Amino acid sequence: MKRRLALHALAGSAALAAAPLVVRAADAKPFKIGFILPMTGQSASTGKQIEAAVKLWMAQNGTTVAGRKIELILKDDAGTADTTRRIAQEMVVNDKVDVLAGFGLTPLAFATAPIATQSKTPMVVTAAATSAITEQSPYIVRTSFTLPQVSVSIAEWAGKHGIKSVVTFVADYGPGIDAEKFFKSQFLLNGGKVIGEIRSPLRSPDFAPFLQKVADQKPDAVFVFLPSGQGAAFMKQFAERGLDKSGIKLIATGDVTDDDQLNDMGDVALGIVNSHHYSAAHPSAANKKFVAAFEAANKFRPNFMAVAGYDGMRVIYAALAATKGAGGGDALLAAMKGQVFESPRGPVLIDAQTRDIVQDVYIRKVERVPAMGNQLYNVEFDVQKQVKDPAKTK
Ligand code: PHB
Repeated sequence: MKRRLALHALAGSAALAAAPLVVRAADAKPFKIGFILPMTGQSASTGKQIEAAVKLWMAQNGTTVAGRKIELILKDDAGTADTTRRIAQEMVVNDKVDVLAGFGLTPLAFATAPIATQSKTPMVVTAAATSAITEQSPYIVRTSFTLPQVSVSIAEWAGKHGIKSVVTFVADYGPGIDAEKFFKSQFLLNGGKVIGEIRSPLRSPDFAPFLQKVADQKPDAVFVFLPSGQGAAFMKQFAERGLDKSGIKLIATGDVTDDDQLNDMGDVALGIVNSHHYSAAHPSAANKKFVAAFEAANKFRPNFMAVAGYDGMRVIYAALAATKGAGGGDALLAAMKGQVFESPRGPVLIDAQTRDIVQDVYIRKVERVPAMGNQLYNVEFDVQKQVKDPAKTK
């Protein structure tokens, strides 16, 4: 009797010990990542790039992390904030996503931040780049960049290379205003003068009247920020107005000489000096591997949006692994903070205090590269290492 009991107890405890494992494997809920991206409308190239990168990450790294099956839910917000908000709400309430991600434009990230806070859902921003976004919710982590981060370097370069007067030309919303402000303050520090500040509407990119103003003001250079997707239209009008032959230099953030459109811009883009955190021509082994795999899968070149999407997936996968598959908003967020890894763009850190990305910023020049099929690329020739968002260090 005693022995039977003991055996029974033994069997019982063995069964108990095994039970959680068995239950876990069979009942483990899928881990849901809800990407909200502009797949249509003016910023559709951002959605196309990020979707391709997310799918590449999953093809390369599998769809199970720490015993959890990864389920990707991807929805199109067409770049409209009301739609982003509604989709985010549905993803949190109905789909019960574990992480929200994407956000192709600043207003879309702002619209979603309160939902992330209320539901304690980590929100990984893989595109939008106004500095203040990360301050809208303690649940936001960013893998893209900020406009202050990349605008300061080109201002410094301009000041040291004989450019004395500049007209700034930016899209009239968050990231443009950040670019204008941080370019200006650094350029003034380097002894330059800003003789005009032009803001063009985000939604109707007819640049002609503004370009005429630039021509009239005759600065040494015009500094331009426009969001990804508008660079080609801008360059076309720049050439049509004869500005390429006016002696006014064009300098920019790399959003304008975007890898998604650069090769189609043609010779008018040659020689543009710009600053950014990613070039498809970045000469590291990690990047060459990334670009080759991306191009093989998609038949187009990855741009900075793709890299931020790819790295966003890495940050999410690593956080889930760190929680041993348990997940949970606060635990995931804690595991995202402080991550350090080599991105195709170079070494990066998710700053644990600001939840924003710290990364190298490169000065590049648009060149035709014989060794790369004679195509146009942003060729890096100088670098500032490990740049924190300057809007957050004050
Ligand atoms: C933004 O809306 O924050 C944004 C979009 C595209 C860019 C940069 C910033 O290239």
